[in-house]
Amino acid sequence: METVVSGIRSTGNLHLGNYFGALKNFLRMQNEHNCYFFIADLHSLTTHPHPADLHKSVRNVLVEYLAAGLDPEKCTLYIQSDVPEISELYLILNMNAYKGELERVPSFKEKVRSQPNNVNAGLLTYPVLMTADIIIHKATKVPVGKDQEAHLEMARNLGNRFNNMYEVDFFPEPYAFNFGEQLVKVPGLDGKGKMSKSSGEHTAIFLTDDEATITKKMKRAVTDMSPTEANAPKPESIQNLFDLMQLVSSKETIAHFESTWKECSIRYGDMKMQIAKDMNSYIAPIRQRIKEVDADTEFIAKAVKIGEEKARASAAKTVREAKEIIGFRKFY
Ligand code: TYM
Repeated sequence: METVVSGIRSTGNLHLGNYFGALKNFLRMQNEHNCYFFIADLHSLTTHPHPADLHKSVRNVLVEYLAAGLDPEKCTLYIQSDVPEISELYLILNMNAYKGELERVPSFKEKVRSQPNNVNAGLLTYPVLMTADIIIHKATKVPVGKDQEAHLEMARNLGNRFNNMYEVDFFPEPYAFNFGEQLVKVPGLDGKGKMSKSSGEHTAIFLTDDEATITKKMKRAVTDMSPTEANAPKPESIQNLFDLMQLVSSKETIAHFESTWKECSIRYGDMKMQIAKDMNSYIAPIRQRIKEVDADTEFIAKAVKIGEEKARASAAKTVREAKEIIGFRKFY
């Protein structure tokens, strides 16, 4: 049994990128490992949410975690800001995290491009907070999508740097994990890049989307021209449709559309409607369960209360020991 940690930012509702990149693995891992799954509400502060929106977003993610099947009796489910020890470890780790290496992290460079007016220190040190999240429970496996790979490398570097500096073997190395062979990248509906809320709500399918919404979004999904020669390589937007189909459709359905592509008889409209139908069948039971869990305030409260206690006990032990290693000692 290994220790597993992962989290999803509280920026609204979860989309299929979050589900297939992370949450789906959480569900299986909770049966096999010592798991800590949390809602990264401190990370979401980089975009300065309104207090009421922040609380609502945290609750939404919590409800969706539970509705998808995370079981507070099998895993430790908590809210990042409920565990202040994470912030303490983050502060300590910041002393050995260098500006140059933080500026080279791809997600930081991307944010500098996309939001030049809000390049705050929290954004720069985002991977340090993420490292604290992970190593505070001494995790070795971190179920995440492909976009988080560089952050895991930073977590290994910072953990090793601590070990080397104090000549200890305290933090183990965490690695990104997925049950499939490769880390997942769920494409967005804009024909390029990954599914993410920041590319616009219409480019992502959310676990809460109803059938009509899914159909409408899929209809508008960007596609290139139809193929004109047999067995041509697929342009990115078409490959994206096949990637989405891979997540929700049957092998027969995928094989059918693959052969229509090869023969140049593919009709993108039909393919998009098939994906919409299969996405809806996939999401429908979760969507239903979201409504039920959302109404059960007592269940939600109980889940986070046990989670907070368990996560704090584990985090407090690590921080206490790390502080002793560093040389913080009590005078009484
Ligand atoms: P976030 O909130 O952007 O995304 C949460 C998880 O969903 C995955 N994901 C995707 N996977 C595949 N395709 C996509 N289109 C897609 N979009 C999102 C992400 O890879 C991630 O696993 N920094 C993290 C949250 C975090 C964290 C941590 C994760 C904070 N501390 C510690 C693991 C361990 C983030 O912003 O993810």
